[in-house]
Amino acid sequence: MESQEFVKELVDTVNAFCRTLDDRPPAYSYIPLKTDEERVRVMQSRLFNELRAADLFGTWLRTTPEFEVKTLMAKSAGEEMVHAGLLANRIRELGHEPFDYSPLPAQTAMFNALEGLTDTCQRIAGFSLAGESVATYLIQKSLQAQSVPEWIKQPYRRISSDEETHGSMPQEILKRYATTPERQDVARRAVAMRLVLFGEYLSSLDRWSMGKGPW
Ligand SMILES: [Fe+2]
Ligand SMILES: [Fe+2]
Repeated sequence: MESQEFVKELVDTVNAFCRTLDDRPPAYSYIPLKTDEERVRVMQSRLFNELRAADLFGTWLRTTPEFEVKTLMAKSAGEEMVHAGLLANRIRELGHEPFDYSPLPAQTAMFNALEGLTDTCQRIAGFSLAGESVATYLIQKSLQAQSVPEWIKQPYRRISSDEETHGSMPQEILKRYATTPERQDVARRAVAMRLVLFGEYLSSLDRWSMGKGPW
């Protein structure tokens, strides 16, 4: 398959996943949340994601030979730490401790699984293309939602402009490198894996943040 056509297949898969969230936006988007206590929980969980994203990009640097991909990862690691700083400050301003948070088991599983990806196309497809596109989609929804307070929207306006590049640059990278059936196969599987695990994390965050379960 031509790599352009292949990238379109992946993007369509991710977009279809996003549309399944339309009817009932997850707690991750802050939209269904009713209290600041719930909102702070979700922000703590998403702060953890920013830190793990920085870890992943940093961890992958040494094993990424493609110059422009390595450059992008290094830049993204820095940006993820800026996002983490914005969210941590916001949580502190609300009178809570940003790092008083234990990752949800599904969240740990998702990041540990991503950490095990070894090929550049797998990593970029599974982490950046799949995950960051879903994150950007949900950030846009929360920025438009009336039920989301301004104190949440503020840091996410800055975060969203960075995340749009994290979600779109991968398409260019995959067009360039996902040129063999083998590379396309591992990248396709990485996207499928990420979406399964992301779905589990979103459901778990729904339960925990809204007080319906320990995770
Ligand atoms: Fe981020
Ligand atoms: Fe990102």
